Amino acid sequence: MSREFTKHIGALFTKLLILGCLTVWSAFALSSENESPGTELTDIERGRILYDKNCKYCHGKNGDGKGPVAFFLNIQPRDFRAPRNLTTGIFKFKSSSYNELFPFDRDLYETINQGLGGSAMPGLRSNASLEDIRGVIAYIKTFSEEWEEPSEGVDYSGQVVSSPESFTKGRELFLDHCAECHGGNLTGESTKELKDDWGRKIDPRDLSKPYDFRKGNTPQEIYTRVTAGIYGTPMQSFADPRNEKRLSNEERWHIANYVSSITTHTPPLSR
Ligand code: HEC
Ligand code: HEC
Repeated sequence: MSREFTKHIGALFTKLLILGCLTVWSAFALSSENESPGTELTDIERGRILYDKNCKYCHGKNGDGKGPVAFFLNIQPRDFRAPRNLTTGIFKFKSSSYNELFPFDRDLYETINQGLGGSAMPGLRSNASLEDIRGVIAYIKTFSEEWEEPSEGVDYSGQVVSSPESFTKGRELFLDHCAECHGGNLTGESTKELKDDWGRKIDPRDLSKPYDFRKGNTPQEIYTRVTAGIYGTPMQSFADPRNEKRLSNEERWHIANYVSSITTHTPPLSR
């Protein structure tokens, strides 16, 4: 059995175990809940109830990312108390511009609804309504001392349609810009020892495996990651002029088309 496969099955098992425990716990919490009928809940109140039921075991009662389950996890749950210092409140998966610290509500909605593949972060999916998720978003923002809504989004202009020519260009650019971390064959095997801003060892994603992606492997998602960067990790934005390997929109679309074409040919195991 390959190393990635074993790692994946291990992560899947832990996730299932934790989800199982949480489901049992939620069932108890639900039956003992005591909401007086007729009272209108505000978004934040609604969010707090849902958070205490579904999120605090990992993200902590006060949003510090240190819930009792966190100890068992390799990739740590996010600490929502942004931005007290560099290691709190860093959001990785956002479609706001590289110079924005915070995600849009739609990014948080996606994360909370769908979860993050290959990590312990579960999605609420059909277990929650739109209002519930809106509430929990409003509630997690209250942990931050100075939440600021982002104003600028990723610039998606200049999209290039997928084609064999685009894949060839994308492959060349990938070798120049990405292979140093992700490896020439996209498996993330390189000689680099990388650390994230929390001081933990971090492996670049294996881009040849759809189940290794936290978000998605469509050209649009890959373009978003490459353009916004992944905060708190060595993966910088390739739109940021401070990155000496900066790429144009068109070049980033070629790379996104190429990576997506490789990934979508590997059958998914989960998600
Ligand atoms: C079993 C543990 C677990 C539970 C339960 C959990 N999370 Fe998470 N969450 C995580 C982990 C681990 C990460 C970090 C993943 C990463 O860094 O790739 C995360 C990350 C996040 C992020 C940050 C995404 C980003 O862009 O950086 C948000 C927002 C979030 N969780 C919200 C929630 C909400 C809301 C709930 C409850 C509805 C919840 N989580 C329940 C483990 C959990
Ligand atoms: C300096 C090292 C480094 C370079 C250069 C780099 N990456 Fe990454 N990349 C990482 C790391 C580390 C992660 C994992 C981040 C995490 O765990 O949250 C990552 C994650 C990703 C993801 C994750 C998506 C997901 O949903 O999980 C994509 C897509 C990606 N990289 C594409 C690229 C592309 C394309 C390039 C070149 C334009 C590139 N990376 C260059 C280190 C790098």
